[in-house]
Amino acid sequence: MLKLRPRRLRLNENLRSMVRETNLSVKDLIYPLFVVAGENVREEIPSMPDCYHLSVDNAVELAKKISTLGIPAVEIFGLPEYKDEIGSSAWDMKSPVQRAISAIKKAVPELVIVGDVCLCQYTSHGHCGKLCGHYVDNDETLKLLQKVAVSQAEAGADIIAPSDMMDGRIGAIRDALDEKNFINVSIMSYAVKYASAYYGPFRDAADSAPQFGDRKQYQMDFANSREALKEVELDLAEGADIIMIKPALAYLDIVSKVREKINRPVAVYNVSGEYAMVKAAAKKGWIDYKRIVVENLTAMKRAGADMIITYHALDFANWI
Ligand code: PBG
Ligand code: ZN
Repeated sequence: MLKLRPRRLRLNENLRSMVRETNLSVKDLIYPLFVVAGENVREEIPSMPDCYHLSVDNAVELAKKISTLGIPAVEIFGLPEYKDEIGSSAWDMKSPVQRAISAIKKAVPELVIVGDVCLCQYTSHGHCGKLCGHYVDNDETLKLLQKVAVSQAEAGADIIAPSDMMDGRIGAIRDALDEKNFINVSIMSYAVKYASAYYGPFRDAADSAPQFGDRKQYQMDFANSREALKEVELDLAEGADIIMIKPALAYLDIVSKVREKINRPVAVYNVSGEYAMVKAAAKKGWIDYKRIVVENLTAMKRAGADMIITYHALDFANWI
């Protein structure tokens, strides 16, 4: 007779739950919000069903609901009212992002606010930094990112999340925050951000597509994994508090490698294209939406993510 029968512990749901290695919770999730100018705006984003462009008033209402549902954090993205060569609306305290951060902080102080720091939504050319010809000038861009980070901290952000992939940005932002005495504002680095086609729907949502070329001179080549560890090492040395990997599903090998290597929290970004594929197939009735979402998010945790930025957060919290 067989002595070892792994099926013994799969006999019923209670037994399975006792030996389950990974448990997904709303507490693991961060919900992204897209804020726009105006009042009472709530427009669905076509390539991201059930996600909306919200004016600040509506973003505050949703933030209250998010907090009531137990989701601990939101990440704020914005569509500015004006764009220019250097993306100066990114640090304008009157821009939707800064206004949304302060209004949400005031209305729901316990909700953790993550501010996405980048320039691509704010520059006329759609690149993530200051141009010198067709080249994104790294060190000049750092100075601008510092301004964005400080403006978001001033508005009330708890965590600054730089998504630009310039070299040295974590150190530069840490210095700028400390100089303004924001010593307790954390940095969640998009440390391992690949140049990915999975960002397609987001670029529609945030109106941030590059007007020429692509982002391959700053975002990582998806063929590389050793380089990911180097990026993580640099960002930790520069003072990153949380390390993020992005996208999620096709990159869980990277999440697992990073998890094994470091003793700081790891986040993963379940990006717009991943969300859109699942939503689209679900709408067609080709997959079971709930089961797929739980399976995907659990896999991200199992790979080693401590937290997941996901557009599914609201759906998931509503089922629990
Ligand atoms: C801006 C930014 C992007 C995303 C987050 N911040 C797009 C990009 O780099 O082109 C992608 C998020 C998503 O696809 O859900 N740098
Ligand atoms: Zn960008």
